[in-house]
Amino acid sequence: MLDLCGMELHPVRALGPTAWNELSAWLLQRAGSYTSYHILVDSTTHECVLPRFMAEIEGLADAHILEVEPGEASKDLALVEQLALGLRDEGADRRALLIALGGGVVCDLAGLLATLYLRGIDLVLVPTSLLAMVDAAWGGKNGVDSEGTKNLLGTWRPEAPVFADVRALETLPDREWRQGWAELLKQAWIAGGGLWQTASTADWTQSALLMAEAAQVKLEVVAQDPFERGTRRALLNMGHTVGHAVESLALEARGTTGHGDAVALGLSVESRVLDALGRPGATDRDLLRRRLEADFDFAEFRGLDSRDVWARMQHDKKRLGGQLRLVWCPQPGEAEQVEVLTEAAFIQAWTTDALR
Ligand SMILES: NC(=O)c1ccc[n+]([C@@H]2O[C@H](COP(=O)([O-])OP(=O)(O)OC[C@H]3O[C@@H](n4cnc5c(N)ncnc54)[C@H](O)[C@@H]3O)[C@@H](O)[C@H]2O)c1
Ligand SMILES: [Zn+2]
Repeated sequence: MLDLCGMELHPVRALGPTAWNELSAWLLQRAGSYTSYHILVDSTTHECVLPRFMAEIEGLADAHILEVEPGEASKDLALVEQLALGLRDEGADRRALLIALGGGVVCDLAGLLATLYLRGIDLVLVPTSLLAMVDAAWGGKNGVDSEGTKNLLGTWRPEAPVFADVRALETLPDREWRQGWAELLKQAWIAGGGLWQTASTADWTQSALLMAEAAQVKLEVVAQDPFERGTRRALLNMGHTVGHAVESLALEARGTTGHGDAVALGLSVESRVLDALGRPGATDRDLLRRRLEADFDFAEFRGLDSRDVWARMQHDKKRLGGQLRLVWCPQPGEAEQVEVLTEAAFIQAWTTDALR
């Protein structure tokens, strides 16, 4: 039971090939509850997903469309205000419904917009990228970035219904599949058992088959530690201490990078820290690295200097009492352990990684 002290986590949710039918039924049940409907898309999901979505979902014929540019740069507070003015101009009142139709960027942006607009309107998330279906749409968090710090400002909407329909992935480019595959591998490692066995021997082309199970892992971890008081929830951050730092440096250098590519490198480097500390499970961690090296190309991060990465890691939100901590299951499906990450251990792990 996913119950957060009386507040249920995504009490309405559907995952799989009929999720959009369930959204249609959900909207039909609420016909008359909403005064207007607004769909947030980026220009790519506008073109690739919205036409089919509008054709399939009943009750949205009069919906207003709000569009942003694709990419991380759209997670911006000034844009949230612009979108709020757009909602106002479309006549949205407190009984308006905002639907996010897009990847993690659109879901994060819509979540914050729906919380701030008139102090909160109803929100529905319809993730369309693998990364959003496996990870970003679940757990209720949203946010925008500021001056290179990811998700500096954000809120929490754990009650938002989520409808993740794998058919939306038909137009997803290979590069974007891989971004979600990194998070899927991370969640399969946390789950261990059959999910890890399948994921570690499959490759990213199998992701759609594993999406629902991987998403369920995130839901369970969030439910086990909803307010992040313990260390369980921090497991979802495996690979992200290093990953966020390389992502933000690569974004600064080239203006573009993949979150999943950065997380894949982060998983690989962080797993070597556990090796250096002599934690059991080195064979499994080696298997994880071989999977990552087969599916991801770390070339874009090759020019990064380990000292710059270390310096950027000091911005990590999970830093506690001046120390960087890694929360990891040393082996698939095991209980989490907290490791202190020292500069020496990081540099050693970085220099032995595949990007050398
Ligand atoms: N809130 C959370 O808990 C949470 C968790 C993980 C990640 N995130 C956030 O999610 C974001 C990354 O998500 P993402 O990888 O989905 O990025 P994204 O939203 O930028 O989508 C990636 C690209 O795929 C395109 N796309 C999406 N669906 C498509 C489809 N069906 N067909 C064709 N193209 C499609 C988008 O237009 C975009 O160009 C990051 O900002 C990250 O911080 C949030
Ligand atoms: Zn992530």
